[in-house]
Amino acid sequence: MKIGVLGSGMVGQAIASKLVERGQQVMISSRNPEKVKDFAARVPGVQMGSFSQAAAYGEVLFNALKGEATLEVLSSVDAGSLQGKTLIDISNPLDFSRGMPPSLYVCNTDSLGEQIQAAFPQMKVIKTLNTLNANLMVNPGSLAGGDHTLFMSGNDDQAKEQVRHLFGEWFGWRDIIDVGDITTARGTEALLALWVRLFMKFGSPNFQFKVVR
Ligand SMILES: NC(=O)c1ccc[n+]([C@@H]2O[C@H](COP(=O)([O-])OP(=O)(O)OC[C@H]3O[C@@H](n4cnc5c(N)ncnc54)[C@H](OP(=O)(O)O)[C@@H]3O)[C@@H](O)[C@H]2O)c1
Repeated sequence: MKIGVLGSGMVGQAIASKLVERGQQVMISSRNPEKVKDFAARVPGVQMGSFSQAAAYGEVLFNALKGEATLEVLSSVDAGSLQGKTLIDISNPLDFSRGMPPSLYVCNTDSLGEQIQAAFPQMKVIKTLNTLNANLMVNPGSLAGGDHTLFMSGNDDQAKEQVRHLFGEWFGWRDIIDVGDITTARGTEALLALWVRLFMKFGSPNFQFKVVR
């Protein structure tokens, strides 16, 4: 499958390298694709491009952009490149302007996931992977034998089932809870307030949430 990864930070690189390892065709993207030259040298087969090129390339897209850049970047790409595509949205609306811990600049009665879906109704936005560290996203089995929980929010049931299937195949995810429509991203984005505090307490991002039921 052709995958477009919007963003080239820790998350974009973790997703892109795992998908290449899994035999997918991947384009990672940045404002300055030169920035990811070293990464591309380490991951033979990965392609580099602009945000517009990656959006056009992917049959499925990952949003691994800084939260506050997401709407602007998606607005800047050709609308036709987004038409009918699933956008796996990993971004969080974090505001670091007052340092650590960050606050959420969208919360309670709204979420970044909803804002993306409202602005781009031609896409199927699936909010997921935003509640854990980049390395665990693509290798859940490295912690507690993979016995922990991933949340998923989105309006399109078929797209969610496709993502559930692909995440099992690509990354080995076993416990994925479909929380509901995209408004349920309010809850998973709000988890970041707790996630950041746990990160500060443990001094490590290698932990996860598990829903026992
Ligand atoms: N790091 C984690 O483990 C983790 C875990 C869960 C969720 N998340 C979320 O996943 C997303 C990606 O996180 P990250 O840590 O990989 O990196 P990040 O530093 O939050 O974002 C990196 C990407 O955002 C782009 N970007 C930043 N400012 C921009 C602007 N003004 N205009 C256009 N593009 C801009 C960067 O573009 P350039 O390449 O051009 O610099 C880069 O590709 C974030 O929303 C984060 O909250 C991260």
